[in-house]
Amino acid sequence: MSKNITFTMIKPKAVENGDMGNIITKIIEGGFKIRAMKYTRLSEEEARQFYAVHKERPFYDSLTGFMSSGPIVAAVLEKDNAVQAYRDYIGATNPADAAEGSIRKLYGSSIEANAVHGSDSDENAIIESKFFFADRDWV
Ligand code: CMP
Repeated sequence: MSKNITFTMIKPKAVENGDMGNIITKIIEGGFKIRAMKYTRLSEEEARQFYAVHKERPFYDSLTGFMSSGPIVAAVLEKDNAVQAYRDYIGATNPADAAEGSIRKLYGSSIEANAVHGSDSDENAIIESKFFFADRDWV
């Protein structure tokens, strides 16, 4: 499988808890190369746009309110088979079900505040990366 990219965000609660540095270290230790990174904050409107695919879900308002509640770290990561490799690495959506040692198990607080987002497909990885980063932001 050729190298490809995935997109991640360190969510507001993990940033607030002071786990940003540990999570970035863990991402690097996992062999993911950082192609772009930004410390930023989503407006509620931006969060609703980013998570629009979930707009019919009962948790949409709560999730988008939470994701705009404080600073986040957005990043583009590169690795062989990046989308699946990162999903495996961060663990199950619900930290309670995530494997021991995974990012969500270590740093997640709840299914909503599950420490990090990870793209679910190559197509969405590109859409999500372009949501945050201009071409000139990539290294
Ligand atoms: P994320 O990878 O950011 O993508 C969508 C998010 O929706 C997911 O992580 C969870 O934080 C959130 N989510 C998924 N299912 C639920 C749920 N049942 N209740 C609350 N939030 C959820």
